[in-house]
Amino acid sequence: MNNWWQNAVGYQIYPRSFYDSNGDGIGDIKGIITKIPYLKKLGIDFIWLNPIYKSPNVDNGYDISDYKDIAAEYGNMAEFQELLATCHKENLKVILDLVVNHTSDQHPWFVQARKGKDNPYRNYYHWQDATEQNLPNNWQSFFGGSTWSLDEASGQAYFHVFAPEQPDLNWKNEAVRNEIYQMIRWWLDLGIDGFRLDAISHIQKEPWNFKIKDNPWAPFMNVAGIDSYMKDLQQIFKEYKVMTVGEASGVSSKKAVNWTDSDGYLDMIFELEHNVRKGIPGEERIDLLGFKKVIARWQKDLGEKGWNALYIENHDNPRFNSILGNETKKSAKAVAMMYLLLRGTPFIYQGQELGMTNYPFQTIAEVDAKDTLSFYRRLLAEKKSKKEALKLATAWSRDHARTPMQWDDSEHAGFTTGRPWLEVNPNYKKINVIAETEDTDSVWNFYRKLIRIRKQEKTFATGAFELIAQNDPDIFAYLRKGEKQFLILTNISEKKRTLTLPKKIWQRNWRLCLANNEASQQALDKKISLAPYDAFLFVLE
Ligand code: GLC
Ligand code: CA
Repeated sequence: MNNWWQNAVGYQIYPRSFYDSNGDGIGDIKGIITKIPYLKKLGIDFIWLNPIYKSPNVDNGYDISDYKDIAAEYGNMAEFQELLATCHKENLKVILDLVVNHTSDQHPWFVQARKGKDNPYRNYYHWQDATEQNLPNNWQSFFGGSTWSLDEASGQAYFHVFAPEQPDLNWKNEAVRNEIYQMIRWWLDLGIDGFRLDAISHIQKEPWNFKIKDNPWAPFMNVAGIDSYMKDLQQIFKEYKVMTVGEASGVSSKKAVNWTDSDGYLDMIFELEHNVRKGIPGEERIDLLGFKKVIARWQKDLGEKGWNALYIENHDNPRFNSILGNETKKSAKAVAMMYLLLRGTPFIYQGQELGMTNYPFQTIAEVDAKDTLSFYRRLLAEKKSKKEALKLATAWSRDHARTPMQWDDSEHAGFTTGRPWLEVNPNYKKINVIAETEDTDSVWNFYRKLIRIRKQEKTFATGAFELIAQNDPDIFAYLRKGEKQFLILTNISEKKRTLTLPKKIWQRNWRLCLANNEASQQALDKKISLAPYDAFLFVLE
């Protein structure tokens, strides 16, 4: 266990919404530099930045038109290098997003490719003969609609697993691979500390005549042949000794061992299975039991060999304090303790450490995310009322997590002096950095304590994981066993609960280290009662 990232805590920055330094309403690189002291105070070790490259922003930066330049609204290369140098001086590592499954349709390669069948860049992408009535196959894209967009001029269609403005690169083409590998080296030569690999499990596709049976995404999920590309990437990352975390949906917990063990392609991967939902559409929440089973399976399957990336929020999902918690300080803290002490490298998404909540959408004009908008239009076409469509489309929208970071109680939460690109959550007067850093009982201070404990105690990095009360629908409880033993007990529900502990636990002598309810004098007994959203950390004496 001697990799720095195994004892580290990461922080995900969504640059557009973090801090705006020049009043144009959009967060930027200078803004991030200004907030480095804040990140240090929280106690994190590295930051992951969502894409900052040049982009027409059809998918907020995940449609790159120049891999080696910075989007003008975020700054420029000199400012990026200043950010990198300042972070390094402060002992903070910097991870960038690597988006190589697709480019923007404005990328010069695609602009060329589109010119015709004979263009030398044509084969950088996937093209097949097609007509409106006769597309190459019936595969569906993640953002809705066919994976094929027709180019009438050439009588062919090109392939995209996301939006039509995000054509997929043809990894089978060696020239493409060489361009990508060279670009990766270019960034690593600048001294960055690693990458989060976007949508990496989709770079290989099944043959176009592959027939979908049950899983609509099967034709581009961790498809055979991907391994040789991953080995190439591994080689480069190894050479530079950088940290890598893959967004690898479709890589099962069993297969993830191969991806993340000491000889794995990557250091760790984000699983995309834990958002198990329950409830009626429009009012769905996370089903704790489903969530817990997924997490426990990953903990177990990766075991001592593989390595987990731990997260509950990111820029693609709603706020956990709304979909699992009840939007209180207490539930934010309970959820924090529940996941932050698992085995793996935890990531905190900006604002999560404040207990930020979902945005109360009143009109569709407040929505930016393209997938939410197209969902809304589809619902209207299905004759849903505007009110109903808004509710259904925004319930799980990515925009909940993308509202600006709440820095203080001044206008626009101190995020910008201009007009923010996305509305600020109206609860910023109460939930903000200034208020919470000053309040010793805040969510923020609880995160800070958890981070500190996690890093002080080697057991959290190296210890084994053992789930307790496996089938309990409200309680997430587990042991971490290493040099020391810790017991994490959380009631992730609004119910009062009593839990009967196994003898091997209650017979021994446990001391309370941390609770999200200062008033509680919880001692460990055979039967333990838990108030709604109670969370306790015990250590074995
Ligand atoms: C990943 C990103 C998401 C993006 C998609 C396409 O899933 O997290 O934000 O839309 O890839 O690049
Ligand atoms: Ca700005």
